Amino acid sequence: MMKRIGSIIAWMMFVWIIIFPQHAIGQTADPGSVQTVIHLLSYVSMDYAMAVENGNVIDKQEYEEQVEFARQAYELVNEGQFLGENKNKVLDQLTTLRNLINKKSTSVEISRIADAIKHDIIRITGVATAPKTWPDIRNGQSLYIANCLTCHGEKGDGNGPLAGELEPAPTNFLGAELWNKFSPYQGFNTIKLGVQGTSMRGFPELTDQEVWDLAFYIKSLPYQGQLKDSLALRQEFNQINPQISLNELATLSDKTLMDTLSTRFKNARQKLVAVRLLAPEGNNINASLTISTTNLKEALAAYTAGNKTLARTKALNAYLEGIEPVEARLRTLNSKFVLDLEGQMLNVRQAIEKDKGQKVVEEEVQQAVAMISEANEILKGQKMNYWLTFILATSIMLREGLEAFLVLAVVLALIKSSGIRKAIPWLHGGWMTAVLMGGIGWFLSDYIIQFGGKTGK
Ligand code: HEC
Repeated sequence: MMKRIGSIIAWMMFVWIIIFPQHAIGQTADPGSVQTVIHLLSYVSMDYAMAVENGNVIDKQEYEEQVEFARQAYELVNEGQFLGENKNKVLDQLTTLRNLINKKSTSVEISRIADAIKHDIIRITGVATAPKTWPDIRNGQSLYIANCLTCHGEKGDGNGPLAGELEPAPTNFLGAELWNKFSPYQGFNTIKLGVQGTSMRGFPELTDQEVWDLAFYIKSLPYQGQLKDSLALRQEFNQINPQISLNELATLSDKTLMDTLSTRFKNARQKLVAVRLLAPEGNNINASLTISTTNLKEALAAYTAGNKTLARTKALNAYLEGIEPVEARLRTLNSKFVLDLEGQMLNVRQAIEKDKGQKVVEEEVQQAVAMISEANEILKGQKMNYWLTFILATSIMLREGLEAFLVLAVVLALIKSSGIRKAIPWLHGGWMTAVLMGGIGWFLSDYIIQFGGKTGK
């Protein structure tokens, strides 16, 4: 009896987790975080225009939401300690914002103040507003197909197979609203935290780098059709790449980015398309690991020059900015190696920390640099994995197919030798039905997997 009840409870929990994943994991990660406040202010800045026009509330629910978001931002700042001595100043700014919302001030004014507060918080806390390395837009695309397509649609127009059932409807990433106001950084926050009270849940299970990949992919969607001119785009990209920072690309909406570009370059529109679609050649893995090697060498130089503090910081950055972003990918390929690499990065830090002398530090750094180039090789080999997977999958099919064929051949021989010719059409009918069912099964599973992203509110 107890066992029965136990299994019923287990089932109920299972169903509950499936239906309400974010309740089970705890609503939107860390509620007191800086990210949440920034996120709330972004919303107020963007959406207030839909609530108030010429001093009149045009959408009551939207207006109440703005009031609520501004209040929540105030409370989070008030409860948190992340602003240190600047806390009261920011609280004053937030009070001003709330008063203006109460007075139904203009959306221009509200956006200006909300953005100003947001920028102050970003500046004071130093919270990351850009990815550590160039995002991998292609990885963003795979993640998008797996997690977002069901609602936002293949092209990002908000017309996924589930869209019809949802209220509010999924955002159209191709619209003017997002072009004007939405930066990859805001995308980053939305994907991390979700939008409360809608079916847009947060995705705390994705790493920061993955979320950046997604955020940049979304911002590339309006331009995907222009990828075919890739040579011309590459030229545009290379012209401006050294002169535009990843931080600008991450924090500016397309409109502001376009404005910035037009003051600096000719042909700004094409350049905008190029930076939204492309990344530097030999991107990512290389870039990330180069950061690591550079930092290690700088750590050694600093140590040699007697600056232990700088050496320690550089050694830590070598890990955090260089290895950490590719660690997840590396781990899927060779988890043992990741442990060794982490261990070696720790050895470097400890050699510096414990002041083990120039020679030991140099040896540890060299060892680490060697392992990083090994990491590079492992990650480069990743592409072959596609073919390896393909060959493995095909060989399973061929092996199973051959087995089935042999069984059929034996049965056919038996039937013939015992002279029951009547049974032959049944045999052929049998395998034909199996092939047909296989085909139907394939289509169905494709269809079912597409719906996998659906979650409750
Ligand atoms: C279950 C359906 C669903 C899934 C799956 C989903 N979204 Fe959404 N998403 C929505 C809805 C609905 C909205 C509109 C929310 C609103 O109106 O405030 C939205 C809004 C957004 C926005 C815009 C928010 C804003 O500030 O205007 C972004 C960006 C976004 N989603 C990204 C993603 C990404 C990336 C994924 C995949 C990792 C994803 N969504 C998966 C339903 C979904």
